[in-house]
Amino acid sequence: MRISSPVRMLASYARRYRLKIFLAVVFMLASSGLNVLPPYLFKSVVDDVLISRNTLMLNVICVCVIVIFGLKAVTMYLQRYCMNEAGQGVVMDIRNALYDHMMRMKLGTIYASRTGDLMSRITGDASTLQNIVTSTFIDLCFNLITFLGMFAFIIYLNWRLTTLIVIVLPFVGLLLSFAGKKLRAAGHNVQEHLADITATAQEAFSAVRVVRSFANEDEELERFREAGRGNYDALLKAVSVQGVLAGVIEVFLIAALAVVFRVGGMSVIDGELTPGELISFTGYIAFMVQPIRSVMNQMSYIQTGIASAERICAILGTPVEEDRGGHVHIPVIGRVTFQDVSFSYDRQEILHGINIDVEAGGKIAIVGPTGSGKSTIADLIPRFYEPSSGRILIDGRDISEFGLRDLRRQIGIVPQECVLMRGTVAFNIAYGMGDVDMARVKEAAEIADISAFIETLPEGYMTLVGERGVTLSGGQRQRIAIARAVIRDPRIMILDEATSSLDTASEHAVQKALNQAMKGRTSIIIAHRLSTIRNADRIYVLTEGRFTESGTHDELIARGGLYAGLYGNV
Ligand SMILES: Nc1ncnc2c1ncn2[C@@H]1O[C@H](COP(=O)(O)OP(=O)(O)OP(=O)(O)O)[C@@H](O)[C@H]1O
Ligand SMILES: [Mg+2]
Repeated sequence: MRISSPVRMLASYARRYRLKIFLAVVFMLASSGLNVLPPYLFKSVVDDVLISRNTLMLNVICVCVIVIFGLKAVTMYLQRYCMNEAGQGVVMDIRNALYDHMMRMKLGTIYASRTGDLMSRITGDASTLQNIVTSTFIDLCFNLITFLGMFAFIIYLNWRLTTLIVIVLPFVGLLLSFAGKKLRAAGHNVQEHLADITATAQEAFSAVRVVRSFANEDEELERFREAGRGNYDALLKAVSVQGVLAGVIEVFLIAALAVVFRVGGMSVIDGELTPGELISFTGYIAFMVQPIRSVMNQMSYIQTGIASAERICAILGTPVEEDRGGHVHIPVIGRVTFQDVSFSYDRQEILHGINIDVEAGGKIAIVGPTGSGKSTIADLIPRFYEPSSGRILIDGRDISEFGLRDLRRQIGIVPQECVLMRGTVAFNIAYGMGDVDMARVKEAAEIADISAFIETLPEGYMTLVGERGVTLSGGQRQRIAIARAVIRDPRIMILDEATSSLDTASEHAVQKALNQAMKGRTSIIIAHRLSTIRNADRIYVLTEGRFTESGTHDELIARGGLYAGLYGNV
């Protein structure tokens, strides 16, 4: 489902809560109706009590006022509660949908966005929307209804005086719509600057080592200050726009009131109007200023809210990974074929006409200079990206026919950069496997040659590792990543320089273990260190996105090309 407008999005999420919303509206109508009555009582106070000196009426009016306000309190409470039940629910659902969508968004889109910016949609924009949907929106409706109710009353009291008001109202309307536009722009500005603050801080924290090692704290602080100042200015501007507009509108209304009082006062003097009617009439107008002012204030919130909803919609409208395969399980045997595969991240083509064919259980290696596109080839197999032309087949079947998750679960990947999740070592090894018994975790750790190290940790397999495994070295992280790949017993193993951060001694150990782990599985190894790939069935040499040589180690050495040159240097 593609959601294009914020209102349609809100409406579609609100559908689930329609009963709650209906009740809230009923209570809102009741409470705003009750809000309209008090000024009318003024008329009775003046005309029936003060002028006619009627004690019974005085008592009745006093009791009425208490009852009206009591009922108003009850209906207000019920309305708030129902509306919050619905509103908070809607926002919670939207936030979850947003998170789910972000998790399934194409990797290219995620990499092209700032993480802080994405985060601020979940936090900032979602809570702005929360305030709007729950309190502001109700207050707005409440005030609008109160306003309309009071308007009906003044027509009833004296239509001639009302006409005077009606002449003024279109001007107020124009003023309000002008104000709305200004406030919306200001709201957008504030949100954007707020996201900028989050993104700036987030980036500095995630690159804290770089910041420290280049002693660049001052410059980072300056960038943060800059972002803060932007937000400060935007806020002040919004406040000033809002303040000026609210003031202008109020003066405008009070001036109108003075005119009405002048004309109405003359009518009372001429005996066309009772004093009570004039008092309740002007009372209504004075009371009407309050809803208009609130509407003004709330409009600015609403505009900010619409801006937030638009930003959320923009994310929900971005394409997600295509998953035509759905939930069907297709067991992978392991033959991997690239047919004339080309690929570009954006405009520039990175891979050109790549052809690979590896039998089930076979072992190939890809070597080549840095930036030639080796990791990119690896990323295409689990469909992190889609080729721009050509086909990738597993067991003769186009990989787009597999379910995304099903495909990825059957591929073991040891990435170039190993990120550990926040949790225990065991959790990290068994990541994504659900409940796995400890014996399997240990077995995998054994194969990855990391079990001895894990035993030395204070709580063994139950030791917590940080957000990015800060307590572990690069090589240790990499071996946990190897264990993580091995434990799933995948048919296809992709090792992106799995041994690059290991010292020579452990490299040999891991190499032996990996050879063990790769047995019977299709293995695709990417390495700078040629010693690790000597026994591959076929070695492909990648230069600037093209295979320039391929063959067995001996063939390539005999050929005396790039590979032989690289090997000679090792
Ligand atoms: N997410 C991305 N968006 C845009 N361009 C990218 C992205 N990732 C990599 N590239 C570009 O694609 C090219 C190939 O990158 P790739 O990571 O595949 O190289 P590599 O052969 O694995 O290099 P290394 O040996 O250093 O790991 C590089 O020019 C790189 O700048
Ligand atoms: Mg790489």
